[in-house]
Amino acid sequence: MGSLRFRQAICRYLRTARSVRCDPEQIMIVSGSQQALDITARVLFNPGDTVLVEEPGYHLQRTVLAGAGCQLKLVPVDEQGMDIAKAPKYSGVKAAFVTPSHQFPLGSTMSATRRLHLLNWAEREGAWVVEDDYDSEFRFDSSPIASLQGLDVNARVIYIGTFSKILFPSLRIGYIVIPRDLVGLFEAIRYATDIFPPYLYQEVLADFMELGHLGRYIRKMRRIYGERRSALLESLQAEFGDFFKVHGSSAGMQVAVTLPEGFNDIEISARGTTERLMLWPLSRYYTGKNPRQGFVLGFGSVPAEHIRSAVKRLRSLILG
Ligand SMILES: Cc1ncc(COP(=O)(O)O)c(C=O)c1O
Repeated sequence: MGSLRFRQAICRYLRTARSVRCDPEQIMIVSGSQQALDITARVLFNPGDTVLVEEPGYHLQRTVLAGAGCQLKLVPVDEQGMDIAKAPKYSGVKAAFVTPSHQFPLGSTMSATRRLHLLNWAEREGAWVVEDDYDSEFRFDSSPIASLQGLDVNARVIYIGTFSKILFPSLRIGYIVIPRDLVGLFEAIRYATDIFPPYLYQEVLADFMELGHLGRYIRKMRRIYGERRSALLESLQAEFGDFFKVHGSSAGMQVAVTLPEGFNDIEISARGTTERLMLWPLSRYYTGKNPRQGFVLGFGSVPAEHIRSAVKRLRSLILG
């Protein structure tokens, strides 16, 4: 499962910062959310099983599920996240995959009512809910929203967290909070996969957390990311006015913007490389028909002054 001292530190953090109900015995250390998804899929699914995913949604999650032979059914998200009541009625659905704190990529927060509906659905159907809580620490206008797992009284939620956003992705460290009755199965699959995770960075991070550095770092980075976010939102408003619709700017390190009718995000993003603009087309995160056109704009690693000049270049790229 990983270093006990590290899992104890994560457990303390999750209980206070994310209202997750857990004990260290339920926490498995993995190499990022990606391995968490892979192990979860191996434990829970057989080829042909039906799972619900958000549309639009995280492409790397879809590749894992497709690789596990799952049938992916798309559930549209809106400003309140996934609405399980709007999911087409399929029989024998095994799980729903959600990003309730900050939907990826549109950035909405799942409302309290929808959280309860989702948990009730899971209990009724005997299905699992997989919560990917990848970047919830960085919320700018209010306190972080408590996890969905913390509301669940029936142990139907598998909670996945990562140090990729809170610290940096090349660490490749994340964790799964596993319902108690599934811990043995997760351990068996893990043993068959890579036996256990490397200990060196776990011990380093355990020290980092025990000494209080993580809390201080989050507070510092929330301020820095907040400044970068403001620079991005203000420059988008100054250069584009109401041209773009901005989505999901209350948390995380990226915002999604949607284009008016008639613009093609893949074509613009290809031209953007000549202006040193790396534009992630929003349409790529859709699997179904009629994807929305726009961009996912990351601001985490870009100083405010570079953001301002990049948005100016984006304006001349799109509007001339
Ligand atoms: C929705 C979502 N989940 C998880 C992650 C982090 O993945 P990992 O922990 O494998 O680096 C990301 C990173 O972009 C993400 O967008």
